Amino acid sequence: MSPPVTSTQGVLSTSLLLCLCLLTAPLSAIAVALATLRTTLKEREAEENRSLIGDQRGRRTALVNGGRMQKSLFVARALSKRGFRVVLVEERGWGEACSARFSNAVSTFRTVPSGGGRSYVTALVQVALEEDICLFVPCSGAGTTVEDAQAGERMRRELGVLAIIQDTELVQTLHEKDLFIALARRLGFDTPASTLVRSPEEAIELLRQPGQLPMLLKAANVLDDVGRSDMTTYPLCDASGKVDWDLTEKKLRTGLFIPLTEKSPYVAQEFIGGEGASEWCTHATVIEGKIRAFVCCPSNDMLMTYVDMTESPIGRRALRWTQDFIEKLDSFKPTGHFSFDFIHQPETDRLVVLECNPRVHTAICLLSDLADELGSILGAIDANADMIIPAQNVATISWIGHDAVARLAPSFLTAKLRHLIHPLWICSSSLSSPPLSQLIHQPGRVDAAWDWSDPFPFFALYHIQWPHLLLRQLLIRQRAWSRINLSTARIFEASS
Ligand SMILES: *[C@@H]1O[C@H](CO)[C@@H](O)[C@H](O)[C@H]1NC(C)=O
Ligand SMILES: *[C@@H]1O[C@H](CO)[C@@H](O)[C@H](O)[C@H]1NC(C)=O
Repeated sequence: MSPPVTSTQGVLSTSLLLCLCLLTAPLSAIAVALATLRTTLKEREAEENRSLIGDQRGRRTALVNGGRMQKSLFVARALSKRGFRVVLVEERGWGEACSARFSNAVSTFRTVPSGGGRSYVTALVQVALEEDICLFVPCSGAGTTVEDAQAGERMRRELGVLAIIQDTELVQTLHEKDLFIALARRLGFDTPASTLVRSPEEAIELLRQPGQLPMLLKAANVLDDVGRSDMTTYPLCDASGKVDWDLTEKKLRTGLFIPLTEKSPYVAQEFIGGEGASEWCTHATVIEGKIRAFVCCPSNDMLMTYVDMTESPIGRRALRWTQDFIEKLDSFKPTGHFSFDFIHQPETDRLVVLECNPRVHTAICLLSDLADELGSILGAIDANADMIIPAQNVATISWIGHDAVARLAPSFLTAKLRHLIHPLWICSSSLSSPPLSQLIHQPGRVDAAWDWSDPFPFFALYHIQWPHLLLRQLLIRQRAWSRINLSTARIFEASS
């Protein structure tokens, strides 16, 4: 269990981060100035290139949503490189200051109501109509994936748009953990044993079954900010390692962040792990049943460094797995993103699928050297192009803002001081981890937002988007947070 974050600590840590955003602004400004200078020197060539692309294809318009997330910045850049006019969308109320809207790649920025639901879908379709789009590449988060599919379906039907997302029914099946695991099992894949539980009593009954292995509990159909990183295995044990049923019952009845009820059931999932086990995540762009772009990286539940391992033995297996899955799927030649999470257990050499995210994965940023090709694939410009994977020795990606605070600062500040400021401010490399995951605890070689030819989003990320989110947290939401995800612009509020 993580220690609670007090409101004083909330205010203190938020204020410190705001100061950091302010104090480092001149440095970022210098970087932007240098990049701008460099681009100006290359301007003539770039201008010529632009007019070339413009002449060839006219300006087709693409809609990309999820503007606050780094992956949508990447997708917008890729599409713009391919000559698309990009309309970026984000949710009202907190998305207005998103960094990607400041990108050269984005022509128009629009907002839609936040929180999903009918009004979100209607607004998205309305934007598509008004902006006369021909392509929709959803890049949003887990919260609105199903709505994006609904919007995509309507755009296809009503506007003849190419939408890079599966139909709603398939998205729903892939998105909901228990439905997905059931599907994967039915198709003959190795999956962790899992059961849906609808009450604390049901959970306890399951855990008490003779021979039952330790299990993880995850909310099945609500986005659980706190729970997704919770790797507690049940039943709980006391200090001596013996199963403590009282403690387990108490936790299940009153201790879960999202209460376990009929309406918000949990998935009890076999815990696969043990010595040397490693987690992997993938990104696959699938057009009409064919994988056209694929990336595989080592992963963990708080991933902030993306290291390409697509051509490692496990990467290859993950690709074959994905190919098999799409072939066996009853759905005829699906189009969309299929990003799977796997766990590899060396003891048994099992590669077990854990979940599917039917949306663009941040790992797509590792295709940075192939943005042009990715733009073609997403825009379905060249239907026969080969599948792309990250270039050899592609630079690992992280965020300088995250590295500075979470990875660098701890070597200058004592643990005691850090603990006073924020109880979760621990040095990530001090966490025990298998050798493979050492890599993903180190800073990457490039910042995901940085691009020499498009430097403003980098500045905007650290000196506009984040100050805006932090101020909003400080003044409007007024709640302490447990952690911050720079990549997805999420502030995980503390449960206390
Ligand atoms: C312009 O196009 C050429 C050839 O496609 C390419 O090598 C060059 O890098 C491009 N220049 C810029 C500034 O985009
Ligand atoms: C940030 O979000 C990404 C995408 O959802 C996720 O893969 C990653 O683990 C998250 N990292 C942290 C530190 O929460």
